[in-house]
Amino acid sequence: MSLLSRKATCNSHGQDSSYFLGWEEYEKNPYHEIQNPSGIIQMGLAENQLSFDLLESWMANNPDAAAFKQDGDSIFRELALFQDYHGLPAFKKSLVDFMAEIRGNKVSFNPNKLVLTAGSTSANETLMFCLANPGEAFLLPTPYYPGFDRDLKWRTGVEIVPIKCSSSNNFQITESALEEAYQLAHKRNLKVKGVLITNPSNPLGTTVTRDELNHLINFVDAKNIHIISDEIYSGTVFDSPGFVSITEVLMERNLEESSNLSDRVHIVYSLSKDLGLPGFRVGAIYSNNEDVVSAATKMSSFGLISSQTQFLLSEMLSDKKFTSNYIKENKKRLMSRHDMLVSGLRNAGINCLKSNAGLFCWVDLRHLLSSKTFEAEKELWKRILFEARLNISPGSSCHCNEPGWFRVCFANMSEETLNLAIRRIKDLVDTIKLDENTRRQRRSVRSPRKMSLTKWVFRLSSSHEREADQR
Ligand SMILES: Cc1ncc(COP(=O)(O)O)c(C=O)c1O
Repeated sequence: MSLLSRKATCNSHGQDSSYFLGWEEYEKNPYHEIQNPSGIIQMGLAENQLSFDLLESWMANNPDAAAFKQDGDSIFRELALFQDYHGLPAFKKSLVDFMAEIRGNKVSFNPNKLVLTAGSTSANETLMFCLANPGEAFLLPTPYYPGFDRDLKWRTGVEIVPIKCSSSNNFQITESALEEAYQLAHKRNLKVKGVLITNPSNPLGTTVTRDELNHLINFVDAKNIHIISDEIYSGTVFDSPGFVSITEVLMERNLEESSNLSDRVHIVYSLSKDLGLPGFRVGAIYSNNEDVVSAATKMSSFGLISSQTQFLLSEMLSDKKFTSNYIKENKKRLMSRHDMLVSGLRNAGINCLKSNAGLFCWVDLRHLLSSKTFEAEKELWKRILFEARLNISPGSSCHCNEPGWFRVCFANMSEETLNLAIRRIKDLVDTIKLDENTRRQRRSVRSPRKMSLTKWVFRLSSSHEREADQR
């Protein structure tokens, strides 16, 4: 008899995926420019470390915020005792204003419809608990963030059914792919409760188009199901086309208020990527649905944001001069890093999916596979991990249905480290090409001999035959 529960020991957590295995290998031998220059470079972690100096300089200029002082007076005791799971009103207000600013103030958000959570991880799981029973399903476009297997399925018992997107149309979500996924769920006897998208997409680094959003809205409307839009990367959109939030499309179609459809649209957000603060654990659910807000608020007791974090960030985000400069500057830096990676890879003969957002590129290594299979993808991933010493995430860990795509992160390291990583990948590509040429040469050396031998045997046998005929 097991000493642990079935939940604790079942493997739907996804810990065995190569996404997490790559991290384990990295931890055994992490790159450090002085202490371990031949170590593994971590390129499997979507962290934004490009704008820390902006946050640090704000902290230096606003010492009262970190010292828990307001108008010169300490509010330490107040914060130490604060335990209202609705969250600090000042923080909720500054967070919704920040969300609106990221969306160019084309939409506004009501703080009463916001539920605070410990990051998007907790927000997504809470929404699953609120919207689906164990054994019911959510449809997710592939490829998707590997952590969703853990966040959406593990503790809730909810199932994920893939909406299969393909490279033939740059992995866009089509009406037929949506319908196919819905039918697939039915074949598996799963009741579909909703669709979950990430906009901008992790791992693609692309924004969801207005057309796609319209298809999605029509689809969930027709099927009478929910849609969750995880917009954790909304502030990372550094190039055109710009970011369009699902709320904006609802507003354009006058579906925003009254309609029962808007009650089925939920947004997930977090400061882990846009502000680069995953350690602070700050996330949120935004929903027009009062029942969802009320249930999720009760559940948020399991994953609250500490009151000192809320206080510090409410001070920071209510500084409009800071937020507007931060948003602009951070995007500029992301774009320059993105361009560095894309052009470095291009020099190595590698293409990326054209992207305009995120902290990563979706890299096409199909031409380096020994065959068009996921085994070959794993083989290549291992060579990249152990020979080039780069931890990148294979497409299979993101449930991509085409082997040969990899997610490569670019914002969690210095420029020098990124350049080194590019040199290492180029060296590996050269080695793979050299191996391939050697194999080809060996084949062509072997085959003429085989041919001449065949000819010789043929000649011999035909002369034998002639002799026999003559006999
Ligand atoms: C799409 C997506 N959703 C949610 C998360 C979890 O983020 P958080 O740190 O806010 O829990 C991530 C983290 O990488 C992500 O990429």
